[in-house]
Amino acid sequence: MALRLGFVGVGGIAQRHLNGAKARADVEIVGHCDVNEARAREVAVQFGGEACASPAELYDGTKPDAIVISTPPHAHGEIEEEACRRGIPFFVEKPVAVSMALAERVLRAVEASGVITQVGYMYRRSEPIRTVQRLLSERPVAMVQAHFYMPGLPPAPWYQTMAHSGGQLVEQATHILDLGRFLAGDVRSVLGRTARVRNWTPPPGAEPQTGMRSYAEGFDIPDTTALVLEYESGALGTLSCSIVPQGQWDVGFKVVAEGLLVTIDGASARWSGDETGEATAPDDWPLAVLHEFLDGVIAGEQPSIPYVEGVKSLAVSLAGYESVKRGAPAVLRELLPEGVG
Ligand SMILES: NC(=O)c1ccc[n+]([C@@H]2O[C@H](COP(=O)([O-])OP(=O)(O)OC[C@H]3O[C@@H](n4cnc5c(N)ncnc54)[C@H](O)[C@@H]3O)[C@@H](O)[C@H]2O)c1
Repeated sequence: MALRLGFVGVGGIAQRHLNGAKARADVEIVGHCDVNEARAREVAVQFGGEACASPAELYDGTKPDAIVISTPPHAHGEIEEEACRRGIPFFVEKPVAVSMALAERVLRAVEASGVITQVGYMYRRSEPIRTVQRLLSERPVAMVQAHFYMPGLPPAPWYQTMAHSGGQLVEQATHILDLGRFLAGDVRSVLGRTARVRNWTPPPGAEPQTGMRSYAEGFDIPDTTALVLEYESGALGTLSCSIVPQGQWDVGFKVVAEGLLVTIDGASARWSGDETGEATAPDDWPLAVLHEFLDGVIAGEQPSIPYVEGVKSLAVSLAGYESVKRGAPAVLRELLPEGVG
């Protein structure tokens, strides 16, 4: 029998997950819920399943075996808690929340219910990155140097406010802060500086922009950030990120380890030293993280990125902003929920 799959939040990124699920013969798409009800109806026509007015209606009306949550960062909480209460496994897009308090509330619900979870940290499931992770796990890592440069402000209207997106560290650089943890282990402390280097106020009479934007009403997030990270292993790391429009996406790493220099460019990697090689990610690499979740639910096995990993990576982002406020390093231990470390 096919796995019955429901969707909560069916905007931009949900399209990827819907297409990935639709392509599987062992999955049946049973329903969709979105605060934009017209959007839920549109997706139901395109992908099959029912349009539902609320998560509860989706859960109780269509009886999904699992759900995929692709809401904006500020809209988490009850969606996951209601799923846990009914024992429904969930895949949730990163970041898991914009505050530690909310992330902890959901974590406790996940722990109490024991449901299978997966956070959409897709870079962790890229095969080239898994190869370098294996190589790095065999040697002491010295330095993790990461960057996340975006060609402007993403189209989603909630991105430009701290209360809704959490800022670039929480919303998008979380991908590589998480990957830093995957490659070099947990983080002990973070020292950060943020800046707003350009004027994002729309010019008089400006038309609404489509695609990546260069201005926005109500913009209140930093546009440029630098972090220094200290890992529990003693390794150091840096992160540079910016949304100042410069023409292209550029996301990657250099990792220095004993006998190995790793370069990660997007989801592809090359390495040299006492071993040399390179590997390119296939075009459909971003879907592997969803497929691992679906396979896990079908087999009754927890996949590799449980909810708690999202909580730990969120704490690294929030430590960056906390450090900016304090003007001193923020220690992860002080932010993480009790028992998570
Ligand atoms: N892994 C990736 O590559 C990747 C790429 C893009 C976005 N994302 C993540 O996915 C999430 C969504 O991003 P997006 O670009 O699809 O945003 P979006 O704004 O395009 O879509 C979000 C959808 O959620 C709906 N929504 C909002 N609040 C809701 C609620 N309480 N209940 C139900 N539906 C609700 C909105 O109406 C909208 O249709 C974000 O956390 C983002 O970081 C991940």
